[in-house]
Amino acid sequence: MTAPVADQTASPSAVPSEFETLAKKVDDALAAVRALDPAARGTAMSLKDSIEAFHKLALTTMVKRLKDDEHGRGLLFSMVDAPEIYAMLALHGIVRADLRTRVSRVIDMVRPYMESHGGDVELVDVQGDRAIVRLHGSCNGCSMSAVTLRNSVEEALKEHVPEISGVDVAPNEPTPALVTLESRTAKSKEGWIAGPNVMDIATDRPYRLDDNGVSAILTRRDNVVQAFRNVCAHQGLPLDSATIDPEDGTLTCPWHGFRFDCISGECFTSPKAMLEPLPLRVENGVVWVRLA
Ligand code: FES
Repeated sequence: MTAPVADQTASPSAVPSEFETLAKKVDDALAAVRALDPAARGTAMSLKDSIEAFHKLALTTMVKRLKDDEHGRGLLFSMVDAPEIYAMLALHGIVRADLRTRVSRVIDMVRPYMESHGGDVELVDVQGDRAIVRLHGSCNGCSMSAVTLRNSVEEALKEHVPEISGVDVAPNEPTPALVTLESRTAKSKEGWIAGPNVMDIATDRPYRLDDNGVSAILTRRDNVVQAFRNVCAHQGLPLDSATIDPEDGTLTCPWHGFRFDCISGECFTSPKAMLEPLPLRVENGVVWVRLA
């Protein structure tokens, strides 16, 4: 009963106490069997496996017949809502929760680890074989933490949800409107650092700007400049050696080739992943960026 009981922890309030009691009895009995001497344990486990195989055969036949019948399908769906029926069918691999629910459960599973590192993770979406997450706390803004924690989420997802091939990190702030050279006026320099002159930013590669351990890239297309955190939305790796196509403004990450709009930060490879923009203004031809 171990696997289904674990599944049920995602919504503990839906689990009837009788179900929990029975499941615990099974788990306790199993633990006792595992403590037996090898010969007795082998016999007991063989009995358990035979009974489970028998149950699985019967349940599979029952579910198949229900699925084949128009009214049976409705009945089956309503029965699966009962935790004990769902647990039994899940135990035998006859039903599975939908992909997003399963991804969400794994995210809940890794959350304590993220929290122990001062971070958190939120599931934004599941698109095809990729999970889109947003990182919070210490993982937001520190590229090393972000990479480490993101990789932990990805490993857990790949292990428990084989349909997921990878994780993309969505930015924490919405992308602002395009920033034109004329659109910003200096008011305060607090928290801002001065960058290059606008015309010193090449149009075919990003300009890297670092301060106090925080790294940004500046991009330019014609008369528009933008600043992003120097972190690719794919695997959190640095973007400062990316290339930019001056014709269409596409920035290509050097690591795995994800493509982004160099001004809006929109990702063409995985549409909900975006680069994280940073506040930027231009004063007397000089770019100022707030990295903090
Ligand atoms: S880190 Fe993989 S495409 Fe950028």
